[in-house]
Amino acid sequence: MKKVKIIICLIALVVIGGLAFVIIKNINTEDKQTLDVSITDEQGKEAKLNLNSDKILVIYFSETGNTQKLAKLISDKVGGDFVRIETEKVYPEDYEKLVDDAKKEKDNNDRPKLKELNINLENYDIIFVGYPIWWYQMPMAMYTFFDNYDFANKTIIPFNTHEGSGSSGTYEDIQKLEPKAKVLEGLPIRGGDMTSDQSNKVDNWLKNLDI
Ligand SMILES: Cc1cc2nc3c(=O)[nH]c(=O)nc-3n(C[C@H](O)[C@H](O)[C@H](O)COP(=O)(O)O)c2cc1C
Repeated sequence: MKKVKIIICLIALVVIGGLAFVIIKNINTEDKQTLDVSITDEQGKEAKLNLNSDKILVIYFSETGNTQKLAKLISDKVGGDFVRIETEKVYPEDYEKLVDDAKKEKDNNDRPKLKELNINLENYDIIFVGYPIWWYQMPMAMYTFFDNYDFANKTIIPFNTHEGSGSSGTYEDIQKLEPKAKVLEGLPIRGGDMTSDQSNKVDNWLKNLDI
């Protein structure tokens, strides 16, 4: 009788353990957002809108894919070149660890090194620059980016994704970092909203930019 009880307990443990594993795995995969590997850098795209210049670059930093989606949407409308900013370091895949890591970077005023960007700013008049809000400001990688390039006499058009902080004063921060650039009104969109079509919002914003 004792043996039977032990066997029943063992079976129950295996079943419960298996169920818990499946549940945790599903939570993780459902929560995990990643960059879309099918969205790659592009060059010389035709614009779908009438713009004053065809020397256009859309460049973005994105870790969990929301800003990437927004950047692609904008780029497909304005044409030109499309480039992703990547850091040499790999950020943690685990969301909580990523949040901690980004906080440390911010507190230390770090400038994480960027992978070589294949761009020459002389080729562009208008540069759309996208990023997520991290700890109420731009990710430190964007500070490296603005340190590395001189945007004098260029038009910068920022856009960002966030989960409640809006643009968090980052458009003003960019103007301070690049005082000789003309920084136009940016577009903040909630990251969670990127699961639905944001085309109308982007179109209205672009229409009012006068570019
Ligand atoms: C490290 C970290 C810090 C964040 N800090 C903020 C914040 O201060 N305010 C906010 O509204 N959202 C914050 N978020 C949410 C992101 O801005 C939002 O999910 C964004 O869409 C992520 O963009 P991505 O998918 O392109 O990386 C933070 C996210 C991360 C990973």
